[in-house]
Amino acid sequence: MTALYDEIQQVAAQYPQRRSAVIPALRLAQEAHGGWLPPAAFREVADALELTPAYCQSVASFYDMFQLEPVGKHMIEVCTNISCALVGAQATLEAFESELGIRAGETTPDGEFTLRTIECLGGCGWGTVVSCDHRYRHYVKPEDASRVVEELRHAEH
Ligand code: FES
Repeated sequence: MTALYDEIQQVAAQYPQRRSAVIPALRLAQEAHGGWLPPAAFREVADALELTPAYCQSVASFYDMFQLEPVGKHMIEVCTNISCALVGAQATLEAFESELGIRAGETTPDGEFTLRTIECLGGCGWGTVVSCDHRYRHYVKPEDASRVVEELRHAEH
């Protein structure tokens, strides 16, 4: 058995029903596969929890935190929901697009960055909220894009 299988068994042991561990198991699988869930990941999670790959994929496809396509080493997610939109989220998003040379939903050719829009991150009073490698930054303005990208580029991952 693989290390991932063993990790999933440990998580599953914390739940009365093994299938309840599907979300943490998918998170583990995503980490193991470099930040996204290829078809093999669904088979591995399904085998470990005695589910079907289709069920695991259906769960993953519902949640924004699971990636169904390859992603860059760093993930920049700009909240564009209403509260952030009212304080300039679109301009902030466009600044990141310009800085990275890609559009939202794309990954840079060197595989370093993926840029996405994302639904409300729960920090509506502190917009624009931008999640950088899953850490939230508040009050992000267009002029911050270049500095944020440089910080991430030099950050340990
Ligand atoms: S609308 Fe952006 S954090 Fe809520």
